[in-house]
Amino acid sequence: MSYGAPTLEADAVMADGQDDWGSFFKRREQTHAERERMDVQVWLKQQMVSAAAYDAEVLLARFLAEMEHGLSGNVASLEMIPSYVTVAREIPHDVPVAVIDAGGTNLRVGMVRLEAAGRAAFSHFTRQAIPGRDTKVCAADFYDVLVDALAPFVSEVAAIGFCFSYPATITPDHDGVLLRWTKEIKIPELVGRRVGAGLLSALEARGMGGKRLIILNDTVAALLAGEMEGARFNASSYVGVILGTGTNTAYIERNRNIGQPAEQREECQVINVESGAFTGFERGPIDKELDAASREPGVGLLEKAVSGVYMGPLALRLLKALVPQGVFSDSGADKLAGMTALSTIAIDALAAGRRADSGILNDDSFTESDRKIMTLVFNGVVDRAALLTAVNIAAAVIKGGGGQDALRPVCVNIDGATYYKTFQLAAKVQTRLQPMMRARGLHVRCINVPDAPVIGAAIAAISSFRSPAA
Ligand code: BGC
Repeated sequence: MSYGAPTLEADAVMADGQDDWGSFFKRREQTHAERERMDVQVWLKQQMVSAAAYDAEVLLARFLAEMEHGLSGNVASLEMIPSYVTVAREIPHDVPVAVIDAGGTNLRVGMVRLEAAGRAAFSHFTRQAIPGRDTKVCAADFYDVLVDALAPFVSEVAAIGFCFSYPATITPDHDGVLLRWTKEIKIPELVGRRVGAGLLSALEARGMGGKRLIILNDTVAALLAGEMEGARFNASSYVGVILGTGTNTAYIERNRNIGQPAEQREECQVINVESGAFTGFERGPIDKELDAASREPGVGLLEKAVSGVYMGPLALRLLKALVPQGVFSDSGADKLAGMTALSTIAIDALAAGRRADSGILNDDSFTESDRKIMTLVFNGVVDRAALLTAVNIAAAVIKGGGGQDALRPVCVNIDGATYYKTFQLAAKVQTRLQPMMRARGLHVRCINVPDAPVIGAAIAAISSFRSPAA
């Protein structure tokens, strides 16, 4: 990435008398900047942080193969966790239930009453940072936070729907055994424990026992939350997608295809793919560095390439690795060298042209050219995230077996701030997803149900009154 010799070009410009030295240098600078940007793009491809480094069909075939492995109970990067819930049940209206939404960033607790005509009445809602995000906490403290939030209204409900956005094996009685933490949460004591049983005893200890509790993954909740709208367009199947602090998908599988012990009365049930753990894509050296420095090395490799927690930090590592290539101004290079953190929100604001919101990247040490290179790098991260997300969604649609008829598309409910707020990400996912669907004659309709985790958890809790064995 060094300057080329300009002599011949300069002579030519001056010889025909059309130009002067000022504009020549300006043009030379532009040419240089363009060349540099092309070099950065080539470099990003070498780092595997570019959609151009991958073949979507190869990725999709690997994804589907991993899903099969996981379903048969073999060791696979996709755990394919049976949820013991399904769609197409009658949902009783006007039954108040408590809902806990333990997401990657926030903990929301409140009461929901589903009304006829698809409306939902929310009350008593509180929101706070999810415990264990910034500092390590013990299980008792985690439960105390939950019980404190439930206490003001829990006497008014008989059931609690607990949307738990972490990998957990679901038991037939709807509890969840935490397999591991993701999203850098630090409550190690809970790993391997029944999260629901712990909450019920904490409630009991404070005189609020006797509740029915149902734990479900947030993708399962998103899938259930899409049911009402999907029914309106006669959806043939359902997929729930989350792309926020973490990423994952859920879809509906026939029980006969499930090799693991997960039989239940219905023919089908929702499977939590835990797709953020997919390992079937090549990673570059900087991906590997990011993973090694994370709280859970080797875990959630797809998630580390696409989710809101990691895209900013990945971009920072890439920018730092680019410094020795001489593409940044001296002051920009110095500033980057001293940076220890970069949020997805800050670099995304820069990429979206909202420089004032780009935090440290708005610093005067950076030149306009520095910022263009930063944007280019982040675009590489986002393009790859879009490709991997499209493959992830396509695999869930294909595996669910619906969508052959244009009049009965698969209803894909997508939730998560990273998907909707990252500059151009949603459009880039659709641009990659639709051709994969068209090539197979499949039809999908992507929707966004507001508050999907809360609505889905409420549906699960309310339906549990009708399905004691399920
Ligand atoms: C978790 C999943 C969750 C996803 C989206 C991942 O880190 O492992 O269980 O569905 O994030 O929140």
